[in-house]
Amino acid sequence: MLDVVEKVLVTQEEIMKRCAEMGKQISEDYKNKKEIPLVVGLLKGSVPFMAEIIKHIDLEIQIDFMDVSSYEGTESLGNIRIVKDLDCSVNNLSILLVEDIVDTGRTLKEVKRMLMSKGAKEVNVVSLLDKPERRVVDIEAEYVGFTIPNEFVVGYGLDYDQKYRNLPYIGVLKREVYEQ
Ligand code: XMP
Ligand code: MG
Repeated sequence: MLDVVEKVLVTQEEIMKRCAEMGKQISEDYKNKKEIPLVVGLLKGSVPFMAEIIKHIDLEIQIDFMDVSSYEGTESLGNIRIVKDLDCSVNNLSILLVEDIVDTGRTLKEVKRMLMSKGAKEVNVVSLLDKPERRVVDIEAEYVGFTIPNEFVVGYGLDYDQKYRNLPYIGVLKREVYEQ
């Protein structure tokens, strides 16, 4: 374990098991809806989670990525900007948005609004983590891997200062790392 990590909150094994469960659930739900979603990962945090979960989605999906970063340090700013837009049109598509974490909910609400305004038919969200205590806007992901307490976490895509995204687990970052 890296010495900046206080404790491991979710292990790699737990993440992989949950991805298999969620992928199966998503496959069943979309088969019933008769929709094939465009799976959209929000860069960069969703990359490891997206790579794992799509292996368990038993549908002829396509994938794409968007980058809408506005997050600096440990506080979300609310106003997001598009750093990288999707390659394809979303018109009339069913979108499955893949996020690393729903925190205040501002990012998700804004991205959902943008995609709907560009003509998406529906936007559902799958998030590896959910921190409900921090929510300031009324939004929930349709699929959540793990609900976690209000602690700053890194790993499995999540960063502090662009670092630690490569950790294979979700860990709580030591306070001294971001309070120094
Ligand atoms: P909002 O507040 O808009 O933010 O829901 C979602 C984005 O905030 C980042 N975020 C975190 N990143 N550890 C991180 O490394 C955390 O504990 C954390 N909480 C929020 C993340 O980029 C997410 O997409
Ligand atoms: Mg993010």
